[in-house]
Amino acid sequence: MQQLIGSDILTLAEFTPQTLAAFLERASAQKRAAKTAAAFRPLAGRSVAIIMLKPSLRTRVSFEIAVTKLGATPVILGEGSAFSRGESVRDTMKVLERYVDCIVLRTFAQSQLEEVAACASIPVINALSDGYHPCQVLADLLTIQEKKGKLAGVRAAYLGDGNNMANTLLIGAALAGMNLTVGCPEGSDPLPEAVEVARAIARATGARLEIVRDPHSAVAGADVVITDTWTSMGEEAEHDMRVQRFAPFRVDAALMSGAAPGAIFMHCLPAHRGEEVTDEVIDSPASVVYDEAENRLHAQKALLTMVLG
Ligand code: CP
Ligand code: NVA
Repeated sequence: MQQLIGSDILTLAEFTPQTLAAFLERASAQKRAAKTAAAFRPLAGRSVAIIMLKPSLRTRVSFEIAVTKLGATPVILGEGSAFSRGESVRDTMKVLERYVDCIVLRTFAQSQLEEVAACASIPVINALSDGYHPCQVLADLLTIQEKKGKLAGVRAAYLGDGNNMANTLLIGAALAGMNLTVGCPEGSDPLPEAVEVARAIARATGARLEIVRDPHSAVAGADVVITDTWTSMGEEAEHDMRVQRFAPFRVDAALMSGAAPGAIFMHCLPAHRGEEVTDEVIDSPASVVYDEAENRLHAQKALLTMVLG
């Protein structure tokens, strides 16, 4: 099996169906053990820089705790540290890699992440970019597997903006053999390169991937209904236009009623209640958003142990 030791994780396409299965097994086992067993500190003596160039609650906290629980030292860098004062990406990386064993980076352009990864000799993990959010989708797949008992053949629907979450969910679903229908308005499609990569993987795993314009047909018979903000970080100036554009894709009780019996609702959070999802859905028994948020911690612990060996 191809290993992930030393790999950068920039989009999720670094995984294969086999490494994803190994990841899910490891994350589930470590999660179970964490509730009972003594401390598990396989990364003692290592250190991880966590660079956040956009706001974050879940990712920042769960990575800091994950690194600490594994026995390593987290170093949180915000504005005014890495990439400030006009220092080049290359100089920044050549210095940081003398101190730490891994870089976790949340930033804007995917190209910046790629540049960081090209300059650094240590693994770089995408903690969200404009293009992809692999750590979130690993946690989402772990959550769906827990709730539905499997991933292959599960029917998932993603509603709203074809953004970083949609791009990464397509790749994740393809790797897992899970069927995914993205319902989004024309002009807000997922990235063509993400769709192409996902379709190539899906040809091997049998996952069915679709992009449709009608929200009701997207959720029809779905076991899992997923949405995300209509206005991602960096797009705030477009908020009013986006609220108009995506209104038909709001996940409310009427839309959820078209999903399969026992369907679950997921959202990476933060939610904009009343925009992409109503209170009655996100606060309903179908909603698993807090289990999903908890799984960020378990997923990242497993990921860090796979990448750092
Ligand atoms: N879901 C997620 O990535 O949350 P944060 O933006 O709070 O990290
Ligand atoms: N699509 C959202 C995800 C936040 C976790 C954003 O990029 O802001």
